[in-house]
Amino acid sequence: MIKDIVLKNRSYRGFDESYSFTREDLLEYVDAMRLCASSANIQPLKYYISYEKEEVESILTFTHFGGALPELHLPRTGNHPTAFIIICQDTDISSNIAQFQKDVGIVAQTALLMAAEKDLGGLMIGNFQGDDIKKLLKFADNIKPQLVIALGKPAEEIVITNIPDSGITKYYRDEKDVHYVPKRKLEDVVIN
Ligand SMILES: Cc1cc2nc3c(=O)[nH]c(=O)nc-3n(C[C@H](O)[C@H](O)[C@H](O)COP(=O)(O)O)c2cc1C
Repeated sequence: MIKDIVLKNRSYRGFDESYSFTREDLLEYVDAMRLCASSANIQPLKYYISYEKEEVESILTFTHFGGALPELHLPRTGNHPTAFIIICQDTDISSNIAQFQKDVGIVAQTALLMAAEKDLGGLMIGNFQGDDIKKLLKFADNIKPQLVIALGKPAEEIVITNIPDSGITKYYRDEKDVHYVPKRKLEDVVIN
């Protein structure tokens, strides 16, 4: 059931580095992402796939994991993601970045649901250094990174929990490193 996959599809920040991706593996994700809905069907998104360890490690240095838990320095050494898909907008197709932010979310979620279906997982990373990534990967001027997706074999436990009475939605970890993600209740998100 799709809902089961949605439940399984958490934001992972720790991975089993013995799992690796091939170019073909990642092309399968992109092949589904290109089929997603697009505002006015303009399809300005392009994708950079990365699966070779050295390059993945370089990209990682320009991304920021777990901003709410800075003391943990995630991802930990030995638990890095083993692939990235960088979602970019080709501004030669459309220079209107705002118009396609929803497209970016749709393709990102699609990739992560595909990963979850294969017992893999990942993280959407909005907090990244786009200019550094552009320079590192020698992107043409018209290729603008919008969202980075880290991928790997998850190596951490994540539990969905209720939002406490304080209303704080911040995720947190316990002493066993179990990661808790507070979610609003059904009755609190339905307006009518
Ligand atoms: C558009 C977007 C950007 C995000 N950027 C980051 C990020 O830069 N770093 C990070 O650690 N998590 C990032 N996240 C993950 C959120 O923190 C995560 O979705 C939230 O904590 C809820 O956890 P869940 O995805 O397991 O439900 C991002 C999520 C979204 C939707």
